Amino acid sequence: MDLVWITVACFVFYKCVECSGTAKEWTYAGTVGQPEWAVFFPDCGGSSQSPINVDTSQARYDPTLIPVLPLGYNHYGKRQFTLYNNGHTVQMTLPHWMSVAGLPWHYSAVQLHLHWGSEVGVTTGSEHTINGQSTAAELHIVHYNTEIYANMSEAMTQENGLAVLAILIEAGEEINQGYGRILNYLGHIRYAGQKVTIPAFDIELLLPDNLSQYFLYNGSLTTPPCHQSVLWTIFNERVKISHSQLLKLQTVLYSSKQEEAEPMALQDNYRSTQQLNHRTVLSSFIPVSVKIYTTGEIAAIVIGSLCGCIGLAVIICFIVKTIRLTSSWDVLPSIRPAPQPRSQDMAKERKDDMALKVTSNPTKPEEAAPQPET
Ligand SMILES: *[C@@H]1O[C@H](CO)[C@@H](O)[C@H](O)[C@H]1NC(C)=O
Ligand SMILES: *[C@@H]1O[C@H](CO)[C@@H](O)[C@H](O)[C@H]1NC(C)=O
Repeated sequence: MDLVWITVACFVFYKCVECSGTAKEWTYAGTVGQPEWAVFFPDCGGSSQSPINVDTSQARYDPTLIPVLPLGYNHYGKRQFTLYNNGHTVQMTLPHWMSVAGLPWHYSAVQLHLHWGSEVGVTTGSEHTINGQSTAAELHIVHYNTEIYANMSEAMTQENGLAVLAILIEAGEEINQGYGRILNYLGHIRYAGQKVTIPAFDIELLLPDNLSQYFLYNGSLTTPPCHQSVLWTIFNERVKISHSQLLKLQTVLYSSKQEEAEPMALQDNYRSTQQLNHRTVLSSFIPVSVKIYTTGEIAAIVIGSLCGCIGLAVIICFIVKTIRLTSSWDVLPSIRPAPQPRSQDMAKERKDDMALKVTSNPTKPEEAAPQPET
């Protein structure tokens, strides 16, 4: 009996290994499209997959999260960068000295790549969504954990192995010079498998200004083999590229090789959002969201504020009355009897006191005279 089960298990295991060995040709739509990924790449069917929709009302504010700190991103050196059309995206290798701090471990940069849609004027293309909203494109800067792992290939399959910075991209009016450093060269790598070297540039130009507001969660690679090894950082601030730059990204590249008879446009290379399941999304800030309050909570806030205002009004009334009472003595000093100094010392003390007040408030000398004995 046991032997039968072991045989079956071995057979299934063998089949899985065989499948994942042969199914290199995954796609976003088509024969080995997204619904089939898990058949050939078991991790794609896991319970901590990426991307996700970030529901800002469910994100947990963590005040201990500090700003993300890119290190060496602007020390790009003299060696050229390499852009590569791998048939799924445009990817650029990053120098090993670039790294990121401000996260639980120290991570060294490996590569960056983009995800985008296909239609102008339709805001789909990003992998992550925020409150159900996509943006036109998304940049991923991939790093591996150098504190625990020897290299990228070891780290990518393991827990806490990778950290990916995700930057949501929108279309706007102005040309983005930073993104232009990549997009201007897409014409040289139109077909899958093509590479081009480009001048090195400051990678910080690709980041949003605000690196202190972000969402953090544990997830996976968004492409097969979908290993669940990624700590995701999604910046709250979006970056803008021009409409023509977006059009270039959407239309210039092919997912097919040059020698293939029918060229296939490289478009819509984004995975649909995955179930959050048991996971928590942390936020480094308190997200502004209309969804935070229920009707009951709004009523409570309104009533609370009203009570607070009334309380404040009462206090102010009391203070005003008290001031009026004291100042009515000040405006009628001549009515009151002249103070009788009890001793020489006392009179001197009063004189000093008066001098002090006069110098400290020279424009209103009459108000400075204290009336200690009334
Ligand atoms: C990565 O590190 C592992 C463990 O040290 C080693 O076995 C493997 O050969 C390395 N791979 C590469 C590509 O350097
Ligand atoms: C990610 O998982 C690790 C355990 O592997 C946990 O310590 C950490 O708090 C998780 N991070 C987030 C943002 O949930």
